[in-house]
Amino acid sequence: MTDANAAETGAAPLSENQTALADLARRERFFEALALSLAEQRCIKIVLGKPRRAGADLVRLTARPLTLRGQACLSLVSTHKTKDITKNPPLADGLAALREMLGSEFSHAHLFTTTEELQLMISKRGKVGLSRKPLAEADDAAAPDLGHDRQKRRYLTLDLPFLQDLGVTDAQHKLVPAMARKWKQINKFVEVLDHALDSAHLAPAHGQAVQVVDFGAGKGYLTFATYQHLTDPLSGRGWPAHVTGVELREDMVTLCNAAAQRRGLAGLVFECGDVRSYVPERLDVMIALHACDTATDFALHTGIRAGARIILSSPCCHKQIRPQMQLPAKLKGMLQHGIHLGQQAEMVTDSLRALLLEANGYDAQVFEFVALEHTSKNKMILAVRRQASGGAEQQRRAAAQAQVDEIKAFYGVREHCLETMLLADDGGAANQLSASPK
Ligand SMILES: C[S@@+](CC[C@H](N)C(=O)[O-])C[C@H]1O[C@@H](n2cnc3c(N)ncnc32)[C@H](O)[C@@H]1O
Repeated sequence: MTDANAAETGAAPLSENQTALADLARRERFFEALALSLAEQRCIKIVLGKPRRAGADLVRLTARPLTLRGQACLSLVSTHKTKDITKNPPLADGLAALREMLGSEFSHAHLFTTTEELQLMISKRGKVGLSRKPLAEADDAAAPDLGHDRQKRRYLTLDLPFLQDLGVTDAQHKLVPAMARKWKQINKFVEVLDHALDSAHLAPAHGQAVQVVDFGAGKGYLTFATYQHLTDPLSGRGWPAHVTGVELREDMVTLCNAAAQRRGLAGLVFECGDVRSYVPERLDVMIALHACDTATDFALHTGIRAGARIILSSPCCHKQIRPQMQLPAKLKGMLQHGIHLGQQAEMVTDSLRALLLEANGYDAQVFEFVALEHTSKNKMILAVRRQASGGAEQQRRAAAQAQVDEIKAFYGVREHCLETMLLADDGGAANQLSASPK
């Protein structure tokens, strides 16, 4: 505590007027600190609590800075006893609402910034106390991990309201134990996405929203996380973004759209659709995590044909290649065991996917996404579109296609779903530069 009740430390007792002015000054200091933290992009959130009226239905108000269509706003989540209501007014209106509610509805305001925390308390008689704590002294558990080490930092924080809607956290923003693995996976995914954005030098062009499609979005964990990371100015990129989750199951689409609307996440939508027929108008980032069997190939194909700058895919089950595989004589001793043949078929399927991406102008990497102890679906194919053209690029593509042909011949694979679709597009010239993504 540095300046709480400072005015009262003088020797002479304060007059009523002086006390009222000192209270007003503390209140103003709080709002000045809030305005400064917003201007310097240090503000994480403001929480108004301790309702002034006993039994009030409105129990808490949480405000976070937010950029909507390039305009600075405050996301205001009013937590009532049985529901949350979200509004995203422009910054000035949001601040005015906070000013109005502090003292009339709530007695307590807590400002969280990346450098300090401030708490303002108003007593029943209207006396105002203010405390200020540098972040080093603040409670570690409450402080977001915004350290400079990007490898170790958590990209998302548990107090994000959508995590509650998706059942990742409870009403107190605590991680639901059964969701611990999913939480790890979501964060790892955002970390991979963040690095891919750097590798691709992707940024919104002329204020245009970055277009993302998440195929087979399911309950939307990664779709929400992607939207959050792209749009959040503090922990993420602060970009305008349009993120669409495409999902077969109507119930999931309804659930996710309801959550996105409740939280005022304009630009995040879910559509009931099939990855095999969905064609986006424009696509910068294609995501397909755990899309079953050849659904992954359809998603990869859409990404390539739309010229997506980044393709993030984590394959699910692999059914197409195994029945086609003939055992090369030299590997018979190894692949005669069903488990080995299954593993080899997976490897062949995903190697061909990566090579086909290379043959179509992408730098592709295949790597472990999250440790095997967290999920068995732990492989990520990440592809970033090359900006190169000309003879060297043509050779690179041809070399990748030659490797596809060799692997197929070696294992007797007749057909790979992604390759078939690419070839069908342009009469066998799928990997020619003339057919490359725009
Ligand atoms: C295993 S879940 C993965 C969900 C999410 N991508 C994740 O990783 O958290 C696969 C989802 O893909 C959906 N799906 C399967 N085939 C699809 C298709 N052809 N088009 C769209 N969605 C599909 C399923 O309904 C399911 O919700």
